[in-house]
Amino acid sequence: MTGSSSLADFPVGAIRADILAWYDTEGRTLPFRGTTDPYLVLVSEAILQQTQISRGAPAWEAFTTRFPTVESLAAASPADVLRAWRGLGYNRRALNLQRVARIVVDELGGVFPGDVAGLERLPGVGPYTARAVASIAFGLPVGAVDTNVRRVLGRAIAGDADVLGAAELQAVADALVPTRRPDAWTHALMDLGSTVCRPRAPRCDACPVRRMCRFAGLAAAAASADRAATRAAEDRSVSRAPAPRPVSRPRAVGDGRIPFERSSRWLRGRIVDRLRDAPATAWTELPGPIGTHDARAVATALSALAAEGLVELDPAADPPRARLPVA
Ligand code: ADE
Repeated sequence: MTGSSSLADFPVGAIRADILAWYDTEGRTLPFRGTTDPYLVLVSEAILQQTQISRGAPAWEAFTTRFPTVESLAAASPADVLRAWRGLGYNRRALNLQRVARIVVDELGGVFPGDVAGLERLPGVGPYTARAVASIAFGLPVGAVDTNVRRVLGRAIAGDADVLGAAELQAVADALVPTRRPDAWTHALMDLGSTVCRPRAPRCDACPVRRMCRFAGLAAAAASADRAATRAAEDRSVSRAPAPRPVSRPRAVGDGRIPFERSSRWLRGRIVDRLRDAPATAWTELPGPIGTHDARAVATALSALAAEGLVELDPAADPPRARLPVA
């Protein structure tokens, strides 16, 4: 089945109109929605990939106050960028953001690529981010599919978040984008996914497309079958199992991973945090242990961080000395 054939029975025009009308009255007002500057949009996407909107929105304001333009980010030291990224997780994203800024300024004359293929060639910019920037900053009619959008479209079109394959989902997402307001559409689907079409306890009664949504239809049918079964059971005075409901699969819990504090990710985060607290160009000795990680584990983590460009190592020092990269 191709994307267009999965949409064959769908009132595409009505879905677009109803979701955009809903967004105009119910959409969230967020600081990064006032801009179409690709740099500012890219920063918002990088932050929001790993941070909830309640923390991500003020973090975006702080980061873009510190680095208001692509030129200012390109000119900063990686150390300053990593300091500004504190608390936002995955430090490599901050470095990638700066690599992008330097490519745009040094190689592209300060101008972001204006299409999906060009954006995808930038470091750390994957299919989702490229399409989010393309639709929001450049007004291109392309569908940005993150987990929220996947759930909204999967449920509406196929009755479940997990039915459509990635290629088909992308085709559906692209086919649905209205040519007139692709930026608002991208924001709207994200808002719908996080405030209404929630993973658990979806609020179908508040959804602008519940009339044409397969998931809502299945849920209503299951609820009505439930009621009928209950009535029949009451009539016969026997208990019956309720009809199954179309619910998203529960997430795995207790997945057997080691406690976070024992992971190398935790250790790497603590090392970078220590270096963030040190004066700008000073070396910090890191003899270990840190938490439950002994000196060898600390040295191993430092080498990995240095290989990724997240720290500089003083070559001759023993015990190791490191700092955030100054150039
Ligand atoms: N998460 C990532 N991008 C977003 C956006 N544009 N609006 C809301 N949440 C988001």
